[in-house]
Amino acid sequence: MKRLHNFSAGPGALPVSVLEEAQQEMLVYGGAGASIMEISHRSPEYTAVADSARHQLTALLGLGDDWHVLFLQGGASLQFYQTALNFLSDGQTADYVNTGSWSKKAIAEARRVGDVNVAASSADDNFSHIPPVASWAHSKRPAYVHITSNNTIFGTQFQEDPVSAPAPVICDASSDFLSRPMDLTPYSVIYAGAQKNIGPAGVTVVLIRKSFLEQASQKDLPTMLDYRVHAEKLFNTPPVFAVYMVEKVLRWIAGEGGLLGMKSRNEEKAALLYERIDRTDFYRGTARPDSRSKMNVTFRLPSEELESAFIADAKKEGLVALKGHRSAGGIRASIYNACELSSVEALVGFMTDFEKKNG
Ligand SMILES: Cc1ncc(COP(=O)(O)O)c(C=O)c1O
Repeated sequence: MKRLHNFSAGPGALPVSVLEEAQQEMLVYGGAGASIMEISHRSPEYTAVADSARHQLTALLGLGDDWHVLFLQGGASLQFYQTALNFLSDGQTADYVNTGSWSKKAIAEARRVGDVNVAASSADDNFSHIPPVASWAHSKRPAYVHITSNNTIFGTQFQEDPVSAPAPVICDASSDFLSRPMDLTPYSVIYAGAQKNIGPAGVTVVLIRKSFLEQASQKDLPTMLDYRVHAEKLFNTPPVFAVYMVEKVLRWIAGEGGLLGMKSRNEEKAALLYERIDRTDFYRGTARPDSRSKMNVTFRLPSEELESAFIADAKKEGLVALKGHRSAGGIRASIYNACELSSVEALVGFMTDFEKKNG
């Protein structure tokens, strides 16, 4: 059995060294006499893993001690609702930037809680760009501004942190979390499902500025949906194995040069792929060049028949998970942190061969 060149949009590729480490520890973790999955989430062994994961995150992002670092469940999809529930009070409006399917879902969930103003949207051009921050039409005094930093389906990404936003920013960073350094200034909440850049499915990292949480609505919320409960203590059984894997991936990121290391690694892969797309008219990138994602590279071929052939032939060459999202069509190569340069080189080589045969 051979590992293939995996371009999955999520769950995505994990670093081989991390998988090997977990393999070695699968039966017995440290001195626990059992695997990490079989011991208490309040044991010293698991507590040390979770503390280390928190410590790594704090160090990588430079969070300081004014942030809560939470490991929650329910995916980013639950965060769509939970952020609004905790931070959008009666009589307030929250501003949302609609840059695609995930933003739309976040907006729909927030509307269950309160008033939403869509401050900007790229729906008119099929979400092929990120509306410039200067063009956003804000409500009078928004409780917060919500953005999706990387649009996994349509292949667009914020090129800069929205430092001029007029209110605390809540960011769904699911598909580009820890792929590059972040200027934390505008953000009060950053959430991300782990399964693309930092681990397996099952855990959602939620970072919340302590001062923002203190001002949050004092409503009596369902216990599991109240961030204050999770910020105060380990309330219930966390997704132990997922956090354990995240801790390993975070150490891997640190060992690869931290977020600057990830940035240069990811820029190199993206540049190679976009250069190949732009070289001829056979491949056509779907995102505007000024909004292109370095995580999800989306492109079309001259016909849907050729796209099907491309996906099938690529698979024969060991290049898998290249089919675009069912709502967008075309081709999508997801090149998250753990995707190796050699996989992108193999894809680029295949693209040139395929064009020669079919162009
Ligand atoms: C940007 C973004 N937000 C949210 C989600 C939903 O995440 P989950 O499946 O963890 O709920 C995804 C999943 O692909 C995503 O890409």
